[in-house]
Amino acid sequence: MNTIRMGIVGAGSIGELTAIDLSRHPNVDLVAVADANEKRCLQLAARLDVPHAFATAGDLFAAELDAVYIAVPNAMHATLAKQALNTGLHVMLEKPFALNLEEARSVADTASRTGNTLIVGMNQRFERNVQRARALVAEGALGEVYHAKAFWRRRSGIPRIGSWFTDRASAGGGALLDIGVHMLDACLFVLDNFRPLSVSGATYTRLGNRGIGDGTWGSSEREHRHFDVDDFTTALIRLEGGVTLSLDASWALHQQDANDQEILLYGDEAGASVYAHRHYRFGAQGEYHIIEGAREGAIAYAHCNRAQHFVNVLLGEEQPAVTVEQALTVQSILDAIYVSAQTCQEVRL
Ligand SMILES: NC(=O)c1ccc[n+]([C@@H]2O[C@H](COP(=O)([O-])OP(=O)(O)OC[C@H]3O[C@@H](n4cnc5c(N)ncnc54)[C@H](O)[C@@H]3O)[C@@H](O)[C@H]2O)c1
Repeated sequence: MNTIRMGIVGAGSIGELTAIDLSRHPNVDLVAVADANEKRCLQLAARLDVPHAFATAGDLFAAELDAVYIAVPNAMHATLAKQALNTGLHVMLEKPFALNLEEARSVADTASRTGNTLIVGMNQRFERNVQRARALVAEGALGEVYHAKAFWRRRSGIPRIGSWFTDRASAGGGALLDIGVHMLDACLFVLDNFRPLSVSGATYTRLGNRGIGDGTWGSSEREHRHFDVDDFTTALIRLEGGVTLSLDASWALHQQDANDQEILLYGDEAGASVYAHRHYRFGAQGEYHIIEGAREGAIAYAHCNRAQHFVNVLLGEEQPAVTVEQALTVQSILDAIYVSAQTCQEVRL
């Protein structure tokens, strides 16, 4: 398979950006795009010179393709991914994997039965500093990492109040499923620990439901009058080996910074800010060092791009960076956070 004939399902905000990334791979032929919205569909097809534009994913799956990238509202992830896999296509599916673990498992089972490649497109793993941090943790540069704080907190960054993002039936959840999932996945990847033991979480809907915290992301129409998802979620996750992970995700929050996104690692030899690529440790005389980008960890994916990676996997040049098992584990933690928030109890996994 030297040329991968690709289809794009969903010509919205991320669909467009990822289609551009895919089009830059020398072995990709973008053959078709599908979107329920005719205008967005035709615009993307024209922009990237894609010959076929379809109103439905089903029509696109019937075209002569090797693989598809699916970027539609979360409620359609599982159905469309299974349909594509059953048609014989390889799939890169947007995050979150699905609305819940049961759905995600059904997609994973379909991938395993059909033998087609399924990758959940977690892009934060390809960030250069995330890859570096993973290498440094693996080589023991921080000693034993016993606690991590992962957060993505936006002051006013709800993806368009009233769009599918803020409707539980279409999205499954709010800030946690939209941006919390990124930090959770990236943190487990850096720690190389996908072995959760228990989860305690709390979710809040305090600002978005009052029309506060609107942002600009997303292309879909504002068609809903309610806001019934979390605009802030916090959780404590216990991992095997005595490691704890504290996770915060907000779309809207009274805070000083407009946007702060970080993973802080606390080891018994050193600490680190992953995205800032900064390390902290005591020196020989007890003095304290803050080291800016001093240690260069190895980069596993120099292209730093999930779209390039997906194609390289199909070409047999790279192994999947995001395994289906890992994606299921992340989904199980997301589910547990929502259950814990509802029941006010810790959930054991
Ligand atoms: N990896 C990332 O960083 C990232 C960033 C943003 C969004 N996402 C994910 O990508 C997906 C899409 O998000 P977005 O920001 O592009 O949303 P969006 O609202 O901008 O776009 C969604 C598109 O899907 C289309 N659509 C809806 N139903 C469809 C159907 N049945 N068939 C075909 N097209 C359909 C809509 O018309 C719209 O154009 C979501 O699952 C979201 O969680 C991932």
